[in-house]
Amino acid sequence: MTYTPNSNRYQTMQYRRCGRSGIKLPVISLGLWHNFGHQDEEKNYREILHLAFDEGITHFDLANNYGPPPGAAEENFGRILKKDFAAYRDEMIISTKAGYHMWNGPYGDWGSKKYLVSSLDQSLKRMQLDYVDIFYHHRPDPETPLEETMSALSLIIKQGKALYAGISNYPAEEAGKAIDLLKQMGTPCLIHQPKYSMLVRWVEDGLLDVLEKEGVGCIPFSPLAQGLLTQKYLQGIPENSRAANPTGFLKSNEITTEIIERISKLNELALKRGQTLAQMALAWLLKDKRITSVLLGVSSAAQLKDGLQCMHQPGFTEDELIEIDRIVK
Ligand SMILES: NC(=O)c1ccc[n+]([C@@H]2O[C@H](COP(=O)([O-])OP(=O)(O)OC[C@H]3O[C@@H](n4cnc5c(N)ncnc54)[C@H](OP(=O)(O)O)[C@@H]3O)[C@@H](O)[C@H]2O)c1
Repeated sequence: MTYTPNSNRYQTMQYRRCGRSGIKLPVISLGLWHNFGHQDEEKNYREILHLAFDEGITHFDLANNYGPPPGAAEENFGRILKKDFAAYRDEMIISTKAGYHMWNGPYGDWGSKKYLVSSLDQSLKRMQLDYVDIFYHHRPDPETPLEETMSALSLIIKQGKALYAGISNYPAEEAGKAIDLLKQMGTPCLIHQPKYSMLVRWVEDGLLDVLEKEGVGCIPFSPLAQGLLTQKYLQGIPENSRAANPTGFLKSNEITTEIIERISKLNELALKRGQTLAQMALAWLLKDKRITSVLLGVSSAAQLKDGLQCMHQPGFTEDELIEIDRIVK
């Protein structure tokens, strides 16, 4: 089956400028952390990619270690990219990262120049690409000098293997330093990728202010707290869910009675607003104009369709925001 994208794909999606850069990102971007490994069905993830592009999602987020096994998501994405999207590469923002364990020995983890440069070369081969649009350092490294890690990102940009640099999981102060270094090196930081959702709020204590001041974009990951912020777990752990999957990163012991009580209350509020909890959780992040895009993960095209509706629903009243804080904090 050949794929022809929807010719109206840019008419419904909203795009926001990424910090003070030239790049605009769709308010919903697609993450390939789960559901694109070798154990997953190609028919399913190919359908997700088609729907995403048809709906104006131009940004696809990967990392060297996404799978399982590590590297599988890049391989599978690269194959479909070649088969279905070869003519549309210039309409896409593709990102990858290095920072977590990838291969044995001292050069396959953390933040050395050796690791970052070799890892990106491997990612490009797996995805069959000449360059990626964004290359991230995936997490801060307490042992490697920040100057070395940032100079690796800068080198990669100057070599043209990535167009923009990003950082992920950096706390506010370290993010500020990394952003300064990249600016001095002539390769400014485009974007920061932190964990952020109604349930995980650390970015509100300084990071968002740093990013706004420096003109760096923000793309929260796990906006649905890996599926907790949906109706999925209200009646137990369904068989086909991330929490039931032995290779999934959401562990069943994280789904406590206390968290389910809070989620039920959030669900009631979402229903009152006329939306699903997933839609409310995404819209809640997007209410802040400092958020460039939210990085959604889905295990089916139906979930993506559900999430996309968050763009076409009412804003939040002051009372609703207070109510959400009261439930989650
Ligand atoms: N930089 C980092 O350190 C880092 C870390 C983690 C993730 N990320 C990035 O962020 C992306 C998103 O992370 P995530 O996958 O944890 O995000 P998420 O959007 O919080 O969770 C995704 C999961 O939620 C469930 N879901 C999604 N939409 C749903 C809906 N409408 N109804 C019911 N359930 C729904 C699905 O679970 P089921 O599979 O159970 O159906 C899906 O797999 C990743 O793919 C990756 O690109 C980055």
